[in-house]
Amino acid sequence: MQDADSTGANSRAKKWSLDGTTALVTGGTKGIGHAIVEELAGFGAIVHTCSRNEAELNKCLERWKSLNIHVTGSVCDVSKSAEREKLMEGVRSIFLGKLNILVNNAGTCILKSAVDSTAEEYSFLMATNLESAFHLSQLAHPLLKASGAGSIVFISSIAGARAIPNFSIYSATSGALNYQLTKNLACEWIKDDIRVNCVAPGTIRTPLTEPPC
Ligand SMILES: NC(=O)c1ccc[n+]([C@@H]2O[C@H](COP(=O)([O-])OP(=O)(O)OC[C@H]3O[C@@H](n4cnc5c(N)ncnc54)[C@H](OP(=O)(O)O)[C@@H]3O)[C@@H](O)[C@H]2O)c1
Repeated sequence: MQDADSTGANSRAKKWSLDGTTALVTGGTKGIGHAIVEELAGFGAIVHTCSRNEAELNKCLERWKSLNIHVTGSVCDVSKSAEREKLMEGVRSIFLGKLNILVNNAGTCILKSAVDSTAEEYSFLMATNLESAFHLSQLAHPLLKASGAGSIVFISSIAGARAIPNFSIYSATSGALNYQLTKNLACEWIKDDIRVNCVAPGTIRTPLTEPPC
């Protein structure tokens, strides 16, 4: 017979420990990314996150310090190539060249009919949701490889697998992540011991889904 501890929280914690690992989670100040940061750090990973709003980032960093979990952060707009490069340079320096986990979570949505969508909105969504995920994975590749056990997780959406009115551009970015980017990178980088997966949530109550979205 096992005692309560060996079947309960203690054994689970041991089984799922991320002690000694490093993680970058984009968009960790709100919603899904915020929960991922706290989950990974709660299991012992050292986490770095980013967002565009410095005041919100600092507030989160204060909270994480008070919770005694190891999270650092920097301001970065992942839709901008130069800022992505700066972010990864910072991560390389903080984590001494090794990254175990990259969660490409930062993303957004503009609900609009295909007819009314503008070229600027198209470019903005592609840059924020898809281009950033590809480029950050590319930039992280040497760090993930150096860790000896790398993992990339894309946060896309069920909208990439279902047709929903007013979601055309957002759905296209999610579909690209769900299917081809995840599968192709997984196929290409398995030789470097980097796993690539995608999570495609349905609707989750976060600031993104608050009205007027
Ligand atoms: N909530 C849902 O129902 C749902 C469903 C399916 C998929 N998803 C996907 O899940 C991911 C997270 O969604 P969420 O609902 O948690 O969104 P959210 O509540 O709006 O939070 C998004 C986070 O990403 C950051 N962010 C947004 N744009 C950024 C940029 N250009 N550069 C850096 N950081 C950026 C935000 O901070 P700043 O604004 O300060 O930059 C914030 O920390 C997104 O990729 C979304 O498409 C969400």
